Amino acid sequence: MEHLIELRDVYKIYRMGEESVHALDGVSLAIDPGEFVAIVGSSGSGKSTAMNIIGCLDVPTSGTYHLGGIDVSTMEDDQQAEIRNKMLGFIFQQYNLIPKLTVQENVELPLLYAGVDAAQRHERALRALGRVGLAEKRKNLPSQLSGGQQQRVSIARALAGNPSVILADEPTGALDSRTGREVLTFLQQLNAEGDTVVLITHDNSIAVKAKRIIRLQDGKIIYDGNAHDPRAVVSAEEYQEILGEGEPT
Ligand SMILES: Nc1ncnc2c1ncn2[C@@H]1O[C@H](COP(=O)(O)OP(=O)(O)OP(=O)(O)O)[C@@H](O)[C@H]1O
Ligand SMILES: [Mg+2]
Repeated sequence: MEHLIELRDVYKIYRMGEESVHALDGVSLAIDPGEFVAIVGSSGSGKSTAMNIIGCLDVPTSGTYHLGGIDVSTMEDDQQAEIRNKMLGFIFQQYNLIPKLTVQENVELPLLYAGVDAAQRHERALRALGRVGLAEKRKNLPSQLSGGQQQRVSIARALAGNPSVILADEPTGALDSRTGREVLTFLQQLNAEGDTVVLITHDNSIAVKAKRIIRLQDGKIIYDGNAHDPRAVVSAEEYQEILGEGEPT
């Protein structure tokens, strides 16, 4: 079966004079439609590098990346941009809403750039706003909404493009923990409705809301599996220590 996302032996190497940094050091992974995956790891482990490659914002130094069966690892910038618009919906820590545009206009903006006609734009924006529970706020300005609501508008903007994958990079980073959990509940709901979600976070309490966790360390995958296995959130050393503590002395 063909995977939706498939990285094979991907390296991303940054050369800095004499030094070279292996931001990704031989990463292979596959993600299928309908999955909810969290990519976790400490600062510098390679999460954003992985996100940039999966999001077609960057290409690997070596290895291959197939998105929807298409080899995107060797594409030129303009081809990447086309794939991005067609297949990916992005959610960032900063909502990047335009203050002078209404909620609905913000959601419609990428569709306008994509050349979608006005009737289609309205319909898709209203449906997306309905899915995040903000249809009644469509005429408000972003500044009239709470932080959590603004993040939901940015989720609606991502959804309006009918993406094959929703990519969320630290989507709760700017929110208090309760609002962050609400946004996560939201992503869970979208996933339950069939959307594929890939979430990047350094926060284990957020990551465990996914179904599957991929844990990076020094550019390598050190765990890939069920989000509810303790090894998804603690290091191998910590795991051994925890087990050791339960043993009789
Ligand atoms: N443009 C670049 N040039 C040189 N080195 C880079 C570049 N981008 C990232 N790196 C290095 O690659 C490694 C992985 O960085 P990356 O940004 O992917 O980490 P991260 O897991 O997203 O960390 P954080 O949680 O702090 O955002 C780090 O050692 C970083 O210094
Ligand atoms: Mg990062």
